[in-house]
Amino acid sequence: MTAGVSREEEPAVRIDPFDPSDLDELMEIENRSFTLPWSRESYEELWPLDSIRIWVARSGDELVGYYLLQSVGEESELHTFAVKPEFRRRGIGRMLLDHMIEQAKGRGTTRVFLQVRPSNTPARTLYGSLGFSAVGVRRRYYRDNDEDALVLRLELQ
Ligand SMILES: CC(C)(COP(=O)(O)OP(=O)(O)OC[C@H]1O[C@@H](n2cnc3c(N)ncnc32)[C@H](O)[C@@H]1OP(=O)(O)O)[C@@H](O)C(=O)NCCC(=O)NCCS
Repeated sequence: MTAGVSREEEPAVRIDPFDPSDLDELMEIENRSFTLPWSRESYEELWPLDSIRIWVARSGDELVGYYLLQSVGEESELHTFAVKPEFRRRGIGRMLLDHMIEQAKGRGTTRVFLQVRPSNTPARTLYGSLGFSAVGVRRRYYRDNDEDALVLRLELQ
């Protein structure tokens, strides 16, 4: 037996479809992750729509991340995406985006769009590593600080 403090293995992270019973935990992450969080009502209104899919990452019973994708015709848009602060830098964000890309392909779309703040280095680094590139700017888009929004696009093979 090795000396020292034993640390229990953390459960593997898995990705499941969103269920309305996930909303409390999802909203906690949303409110901790964004200065302009979406409202609970927005999620309640959107999730039943045919064009919308929300997926959640779980570690054991704990909700640790999520994304919301809208797919219409040949285009998908990643509207929200976040990982619980205590679980960041462990590959969960990348895992969710790999899953998102497979979902977008499965829904027959050929490109994915999203918007990101130029100051959001973690997200921009991750998107760049997956092949997203900037295709436009929406000037003074974010109303909390008048920051621009970068529009990124990923072409799917
Ligand atoms: C963006 C976010 C989802 C990333 O989640 P995550 O689980 O920490 O991401 P990962 O651990 O999978 O990181 C993958 C890669 O992204 C990049 N990255 C992630 N966090 C980073 C940081 N703080 N600084 C620089 N690069 C970072 C790195 O290249 C990282 O790979 P590495 O850990 O091997 O260096 C998370 O930071 C978050 O929830 N942010 C707040 C919400 C948000 O901004 N969402 C996006 C809105 S557009």
